[in-house]
Amino acid sequence: MAGFFARRTSWDLTTNRYTQGLDAHRRAGRELLDLTASNPTTVGLEYREDELLRALVNREALRYEPQPKGLLSAREAIAGYYAERGVEISPDNLILTTSTSEAYSFIFRLLCDPGDAVLVPTPSYPLFDFLAEIQDVKLVPYELVYDHGWQVEPTSLFAAVDRTLATGARCRAILVVHPNNPTGSFIQPRELQLLNDVCAANDAAVIADEVFLDYALTAQQPLTCAANNDALTFTLSGLSKISALPQMKVAWLAVNGPPAVKSAALSRLEVVADTYLSMSAPIQLAVPTLLQERHSMQAQLMQRIRGNLQELDSQLARQKLCHRLDIEGGWYAILRVPVTGSDEDLAVALLQEKGVLVQPGHFYDFAADGHLVLSLITPTDTFRSGIARLLEYVATIGR
Ligand SMILES: Cc1ncc(COP(=O)(O)O)c(C=O)c1O
Repeated sequence: MAGFFARRTSWDLTTNRYTQGLDAHRRAGRELLDLTASNPTTVGLEYREDELLRALVNREALRYEPQPKGLLSAREAIAGYYAERGVEISPDNLILTTSTSEAYSFIFRLLCDPGDAVLVPTPSYPLFDFLAEIQDVKLVPYELVYDHGWQVEPTSLFAAVDRTLATGARCRAILVVHPNNPTGSFIQPRELQLLNDVCAANDAAVIADEVFLDYALTAQQPLTCAANNDALTFTLSGLSKISALPQMKVAWLAVNGPPAVKSAALSRLEVVADTYLSMSAPIQLAVPTLLQERHSMQAQLMQRIRGNLQELDSQLARQKLCHRLDIEGGWYAILRVPVTGSDEDLAVALLQEKGVLVQPGHFYDFAADGHLVLSLITPTDTFRSGIARLLEYVATIGR
């Protein structure tokens, strides 16, 4: 069968032990305390349903007005979102996409020939592997290290560039997730400067994924990379996290940088976008209302996140085996647990023994075992009981 298909699709599609365990658990109808919930539409939040539905019904949607970058009214609303953060972005520098995944694919197509490399942080979000593979892009990891908070490890960044060049590949971009999923760490101004310097030396671009930017736990609001003009910079975001509306399929990319290269990037991206014209009219017309929803949704989510963190800390304070890593923003917490086997073993055992579902750190390429990832947007009662059972279980194996 393999003869039919491109090598890039020869994935191992067998399910892992974790997924098999979860399927069996569900089939058996057993109780599940799911601490991985990251779909905001299923965690008991209140949406302004009537406003959202009304926004989707618009007579103007009966006329087709193809615009490669997306409707101006939608882009103006998004520019307004950045203006609220004190950053002036012209709607001309914004391109709408149906997801950040689609925005990544546009950028990879713009920057990379087959075999070119993009540097990605590790640990980080696992979807990048597939996105890159589908676009024939090679991912080269650079490390984030934990030392009183997560930081870019400069030696590892330089080594990643050297490794790339040594194979004859070109280093086309450095990706940052701001704040990173799942470490919850923001990129600091001095780290961004480092990335800009490496980009300048390699004719490479910064790609900044800011889907969780608004969920900061820090006293000061972090800066958006959409203000970075020292390197060609693509800033990605969208309504799946900003307004907790993943089903609406609205995302965008903003282009910044030195004027000549920025303008060339925008002209080329416009051709890529024109080739797909993937945004639907009703959704684009609804963007201003959907974006407004963020105020109510972010208030609810921040309350949930802070409440769950407090609950986690108070349960952790009553024991000594586990602790959580510092976190600056986002929807996740990382729990350090004693290493008695692989993280996947522990996750499978927690499911079987306690009916608690967590994500093992290796899903995100942590350098070592002993990390579990918890979703902080989990409903409060589930979170409380799930953490209690988790700590109870770890206490039995840690003895
Ligand atoms: C870092 C990061 N980027 C992007 C996405 C997906 O965003 P979208 O729904 O716009 O494709 C996620 C989803 O969890 C994410 O964690």
